[in-house]
Amino acid sequence: MKIFSGIQPTGDKHLGNYIGGFRQYARTQELGDAFFCIVDLHSITVDYDPRDLHDRTLDLFAMLIATGLDPQRSTVFAQSHVTAHAEASWLLSAVTSYGQLGRMTQFKDKADQREFVSAGLYTYPVLMAGDILLYQTDRVPIGDDQRQHLELARDVAQRFNARFGKTFVVPEGIYPEIGARIMDLQEPTKKMSTTGGTEQGTVKLLEEPDAIRKKFRSAVTDSGREIRRAADKPGVTNLVDILSVATDRSPGDVEQAYDGQGYGDLKRDVGDAVVELLAPVRERYLELRSNEPELLRLLATGAEKARAASTPTLEAMYERMGFVTLS
Ligand code: TRP
Repeated sequence: MKIFSGIQPTGDKHLGNYIGGFRQYARTQELGDAFFCIVDLHSITVDYDPRDLHDRTLDLFAMLIATGLDPQRSTVFAQSHVTAHAEASWLLSAVTSYGQLGRMTQFKDKADQREFVSAGLYTYPVLMAGDILLYQTDRVPIGDDQRQHLELARDVAQRFNARFGKTFVVPEGIYPEIGARIMDLQEPTKKMSTTGGTEQGTVKLLEEPDAIRKKFRSAVTDSGREIRRAADKPGVTNLVDILSVATDRSPGDVEQAYDGQGYGDLKRDVGDAVVELLAPVRERYLELRSNEPELLRLLATGAEKARAASTPTLEAMYERMGFVTLS
């Protein structure tokens, strides 16, 4: 089974990314032949600073390895190192519907937020479809917010196959169950986010243990005093979910364990559990990130493996679309 996921090298990575993303990647690599792509080409679709892009690409690569991806076993690479991605995106734009792109909620939201809307922001899902399809991907571990983009990639694959002959596997998403949506600790009806959330309510992966504990101590809870997951208790629900993931128990078990205890106990324990969860990640990350030659060496290995895996699909695309090929 082939697995592919793409991760943006933007924003400081936080607990929500770890629980809904990184941890899942490390697990899914056990399912088969896995590709993890730092989607640097996607990052230029909104205003950005070139130096940030450079540093964040290396940061993310170190983080992926620190959170458990094995660069020997899986293919971990940067999108811009494999030119097939940019090429596939153009070829696939021929079978992507203009109307469907305009209906992407992420495009509409992001376009509304800025004065300059790049063409790349609009065609972003085509590049993403190419990322996935080039590797004959069966499964895509992905966040809930990416369902619509994955649906589009499936449509593109089906349209291409129908028009030019069977070329692509039609991929399926793997969506995280609990912990899919870790919420902001201060505004628990909003997803935890370094761009859209509050500073106090966002736990960054590289934060100092004491700062993490403090954020949990000041987390917003709800009226009442029962530790129970409920629609009208978004703060408590979020804390129970986080503790359940951090200590590898079901949310029901956590609720039971806190029967009769107060919010203060819960907040303290979640803080401690998260510190414990993140400490080894932080340590490995700091060590790797300070060794840039090693990072570059590992990136080069990833690029080579990704090129070898994607070239046959790209060649088939050119050929079936009627381009004259030279060999
Ligand atoms: N759009 C995805 C996100 O923002 C990132 C991404 C790009 C991706 N290409 C991908 C995810 C391919 C999965 C597969 O999260």
